[in-house]
Amino acid sequence: MTRVLVTGAAGFIGSHVVEALEASGYEVAGLDLRSGDDVRDSAVLDRLLPEVDVVVHQAAKVGLGVNVADLPDYASVNVYGTAVLLAAMAEHGVGRLVLASSMVVYGEGAYECARHGRVRPGPRSAADLSRGSFEPRCPRCGESMAFAAIDEDAPVDPRNAYSTTKLAQEHLAANWARETGAMATALRYHNVYGPRMPRDTPYSGVAAIFRSALEAGRPPRVFEDGGQMRDFVHVRDVADANVAALTRGEPGTLTVYNIASGEPHTVGEMASALAAQRGGPEPVTTGEYRLGDVRHIVAAPHRAAAELGFRARVGFAEGMKEFADASLA
Ligand code: UD1
Repeated sequence: MTRVLVTGAAGFIGSHVVEALEASGYEVAGLDLRSGDDVRDSAVLDRLLPEVDVVVHQAAKVGLGVNVADLPDYASVNVYGTAVLLAAMAEHGVGRLVLASSMVVYGEGAYECARHGRVRPGPRSAADLSRGSFEPRCPRCGESMAFAAIDEDAPVDPRNAYSTTKLAQEHLAANWARETGAMATALRYHNVYGPRMPRDTPYSGVAAIFRSALEAGRPPRVFEDGGQMRDFVHVRDVADANVAALTRGEPGTLTVYNIASGEPHTVGEMASALAAQRGGPEPVTTGEYRLGDVRHIVAAPHRAAAELGFRARVGFAEGMKEFADASLA
């Protein structure tokens, strides 16, 4: 029987991964800081790794963070933690890794300019954002553009501490796979939501922030004009993608996959869906902006479908309906 170690097993996504693995008949061990086991502690890994065949690495410091004071923590938990884990896996002969990565490694999504085709716009300027000009413009002609689905071959462009450390994890995993002949798979999650999502903190995704606001009787505050596109993917689908990834891979290689619903919606639509289900209050669109935010990021889910056989099963309407009343962590 394949034995799996899930790091971050008590967390939002990790706990669903544990359930999905157990439902598929795997023998699962968990590691989590909440129960005193740190992925950065090689003594903990020396205790757990002799018993496992695969590691599913979900433990991470997530979110956008507050300010640069967070940098050492992101680097320590995400980069150093992964380095310690990979070294210990090599030492104990564990040759298979599934890594939780993120669509934030792409930076801004993909865009098509009518004249210049596929282009990669840089960060939006504070001047544009503050006068309500939210759509990125073609870096070559300055004209407006249409967004497109991003695939795994798009160049990476990490724009904050979190995305930088997620990309570093991918690079470390690729290096580890090459050096040891191991198999590594990175799942680039899009906007994950669902039961047990952590409540409103500076590190939470927008779905949890809106859900917490509604629970407190406050309207969700929709930034920009609410037209920013995301792919909201349900946590049970993400857990299933991890199970599917466990048995795929190529020795010596890191393979990356977008994990998404394939059904993009705007942030404004998401706020309205949650508010409607809870009976209000109605969202307010504030025009506020955060400099680190990207405008649209929408996934091409085809590679995961073709190679992992992964297709999201929870649709937007159904998932948001459940999430509106689900318990948060
Ligand atoms: C999010 C996560 C990122 C994760 C990725 C994929 C954060 C901060 N970002 O990226 O870590 O890897 O999903 O799962 O956790 N917004 C509002 N009102 C608010 C807060 C945000 O309208 O109160 C808007 C933002 O301006 C942005 C959108 O919602 O346009 C999404 O925000 P958020 O979920 O924080 O970040 P993502 O970039 O989607």
